[in-house]
Amino acid sequence: MNKDKLSSRDVFSSKFGVIAAAAGSAVGLGNIWKFPYITGVYGGAAFLFVYLGFIALIGLPVMLSELSIGRKSRRNVFGAFKYLAPNSPWKLVGMLGVAAAVMILAFYGVVAGWSIDYIVKAATGSFAAKSPNEMESMFVNFIEGPVSPILYQLLFMVMTMAIVIIGVKDGIEKYAKFLMPLLVVIIIVLCIRSVTLDGASEGLRFLFNPDFSKLTGDGILSALGHAFFSLSLGMGTLVTYGSYIDDKNNIAVTALQVTIADTVIAILAGIAIFPAVFAFGIEPSSGPGLVFMTLPNVFQQMPGGFFFAILFFLLLTVAALTSSISILEVVVAYFREELNLKRNFSTILATVMISFIGVFCSLSMGILKEYTMFGLNFFDLLDWISANILLPLGGLFISLFVGWYLGRKKIEEEFVKGARIVNWLVMVFIFLVKFIAPGAIAIVFLHGLGLFNF
Ligand code: PFF
Repeated sequence: MNKDKLSSRDVFSSKFGVIAAAAGSAVGLGNIWKFPYITGVYGGAAFLFVYLGFIALIGLPVMLSELSIGRKSRRNVFGAFKYLAPNSPWKLVGMLGVAAAVMILAFYGVVAGWSIDYIVKAATGSFAAKSPNEMESMFVNFIEGPVSPILYQLLFMVMTMAIVIIGVKDGIEKYAKFLMPLLVVIIIVLCIRSVTLDGASEGLRFLFNPDFSKLTGDGILSALGHAFFSLSLGMGTLVTYGSYIDDKNNIAVTALQVTIADTVIAILAGIAIFPAVFAFGIEPSSGPGLVFMTLPNVFQQMPGGFFFAILFFLLLTVAALTSSISILEVVVAYFREELNLKRNFSTILATVMISFIGVFCSLSMGILKEYTMFGLNFFDLLDWISANILLPLGGLFISLFVGWYLGRKKIEEEFVKGARIVNWLVMVFIFLVKFIAPGAIAIVFLHGLGLFNF
C-alpha cells in the first residue's frame, strides 16, 4: 500500500462510534440465535460458566491483541501481518482470516435472511393458531425453499453492501450508532416481558444453576468456538476495525467495554428466551430451530405476543446487520488495499462472491440436503469449520504473534495511547497472550477434536 493511501485512510470519528461499531460486530446472531440454542444443547448454566471463563481468559486478551495489530499497522488483516512481520509466513494468518470471513458471511446471511422473513411472518399474523408441529413444518418448509430463503438472503446481503459501500465513518459507524441503542432497548423490553410470565423462574434456574455432568469435550470446544464467534475474534474483524481507531482512544478500555457489552447482551438474550420457553413447557434443547420454531409458539401464547414477535425478529435482523457489515469490511479492506481496488468495486465484488456461496448454504437446507461431509450439510460444515476450527486457530496464532513475535515493547506503545494503563495490567496481558490463551486454545482444540484426552 502506498503512503498516500495510508494517510487518507478511514477513521472512526468518535469514541462512542468505536464502541458502537465494535460492539455492533460482536453482538449478532451469535448472541441471540446461537448462544441460546447451544446453551440449551449443552445443559444450560454449566456451559455458560465455561463460556464466561473463556471470554475472560482468552477472549479479552485476543481481542486486545487484534486491536493492537490493527492500530499499529493501519492495514487490513493480511496487510497488517505482512507489514509487521515482513517476509515471513505470518501473513498466512491474515489469509486464513479473509477465508473465514467469506465462509462465515455466506451462512450468516442465510440465517439473517430467515429473520427478515420472520419479521414479515410475525407482522402478517402467520403464527396465529398454529400448533407446535405446524410451526415446525412452517419453518422447515420455508428454509427448504428453494426460492424465498434465497431472496431474503440476497435482500440482507444488499442491505449489508449498501452500508459498507458508503465507507467507515458515514456508513459503518453511523448505522451502528443508531442501530445499537435500538437493539438494547428492544432486548430490555423482551427481557421484562419474559421474566414477568408465570413459571419464568424455571428458565432462570436452567440458565444460572450449573450441572457440570452435561458438559462433554464437544461442549467445551463449542464454548471456546462460540467465545471466538461471539466476540468476532480470530479472523481479523477487530484487526480491521482497530486499524480505523485513532490514537486518542485507549484500546484496552475499548476491548473491555466490547467484551462486557457482548457478554451482557448474550445473557440478556438468554433471559429473554429461556424463561419464556420454560413458562410454556417447551424443550430448550431444540437446536438451531430454537428461535424460529420454538419462540413463535411462545409468542403466540403470551399476552402481547403479536407485538413482541415482530420486535424479536427485528432485534435479530438489526443485530445481524451490524455484525455482517464488520465481516464484509474484512474482505473489502483486503480487496482495496492488497488488490488496489476502489471501495465501490471491492464491496460489490465481495458481496457477489459471498452471496453466491451463501446460495449453496441455503440450498443445502433443502434440495442439496443429501450432499454431506462428516455428516454435515454445506451450511453446517461452514459453520462448524469456521467457528470451531478457523477462529480458534486464528486466535491461537494471533496471541502467539503478539505475545512472542511483537514483544512487550511494541505492545506497550499501543496500550498506553489514550489513557494511563498501570504496569501490572500490561504484565497480566502479556502473561495471558503468551501462555494462557495459546495453551488453553491448544488443549481445548485437541481435546474437542478427540486427539487429546483428559
Ligand atoms: N460476533 C458475531 C455474532 O455474534 O453474531 C458474528 C461474527 C462477526 C463472527 C464477525 C466473526 C466475526 F469476525
